[in-house]
Amino acid sequence: MRVSVDIFLRALFALTVPCIGSANPVSDTASTALFSSTTEVSTSSDGTSSTHAPFTHPFHTTNALHHGQSFCDTGKMQSPIDLVETSCEKKEYQPVKFLDDILFTNEVQYENNCETVKITLVDKTLKPRVEGGPLNSCYFVDNIHFHWGMKNTEGCEHTINGKQFCMEAHMVMYKNTSKDVVEATIKKELAVVSFLFSLNPTMDPDLKTMVHGVTEVLQPHTMFNISGNSLNILKDFIGSGFYSYTGSLTTHNCDEGVLWTVLKKPIPISKTQLIIFHDVIGEDGDELQNWRHTKPLNDRQVFVSSF
Ligand SMILES: *[C@@H]1O[C@H](CO)[C@@H](O)[C@H](O)[C@H]1NC(C)=O
Ligand SMILES: *[C@@H]1O[C@H](CO)[C@@H](O)[C@H](O)[C@H]1NC(C)=O
Repeated sequence: MRVSVDIFLRALFALTVPCIGSANPVSDTASTALFSSTTEVSTSSDGTSSTHAPFTHPFHTTNALHHGQSFCDTGKMQSPIDLVETSCEKKEYQPVKFLDDILFTNEVQYENNCETVKITLVDKTLKPRVEGGPLNSCYFVDNIHFHWGMKNTEGCEHTINGKQFCMEAHMVMYKNTSKDVVEATIKKELAVVSFLFSLNPTMDPDLKTMVHGVTEVLQPHTMFNISGNSLNILKDFIGSGFYSYTGSLTTHNCDEGVLWTVLKKPIPISKTQLIIFHDVIGEDGDELQNWRHTKPLNDRQVFVSSF
């Protein structure tokens, strides 16, 4: 019992913790500063610190959890990648869609776990279902979390034709033949739908409640419950055209065999909304940033929907 809980927690970490090592979880120029500031482990942040240090990172908490093989430095099928439209193979897909309203009609929890802001259903027995696109079966949503940077010009993990947007949300799912994300990681039955965000002069009203949830968890290890309708924006965008390929988790241990669907149409986010994410504080009292650089495509084919 204890062992399986431990494995479960580790795997949850694996989904949200940026890479350790030379695989550069953040910009190359930042990595030195990142690693040199890892010495202090503070487990009792008082939550009132608002240090505006240039770089932060959550790595010290993950060293102890870093068991098993890591693919971050050695993998040949890593994520994110640059999605190059002209090299994609066009394919007739159905749109990706939610099969039920579970995610939107129930209470969800926003959590600053010092690696990201992670959104999960409060009732862990509920299993929102997704299908369509490249998914050859029905998948259950496990969590939604975000990747962002320090500046308005960075933050996304996937790039499109070399262009980087300012934020990316990952909806992590597991195939209905796995019992949870842990089993799905081992069986290579994980899938992620990725929502890109692009800066826009005007505020999207549908994004307001989601950003509100984030403002409630700016301090390390805080949580906030709010209605799932704060996620309605995902419903508006999930049916749009997309790229698909097989890659990896973008955080430790960068396990491969993850089926990616990256939606083409970015969600517009205003500067004032993006700043809220930039203000999320990590373990050491510094502002958190958590995006990983693109990795080589190697032998992989990227598909693009015909719509
Ligand atoms: C998984 O989903 C597929 C497609 O919707 C369905 O046919 C199958 O019965 C489901 N399997 C399980 C174990 O629920
Ligand atoms: C969220 O709701 C659950 C279930 O009611 C509760 O156990 C938890 O303490 C709540 N969390 C917060 C931060 O209010």
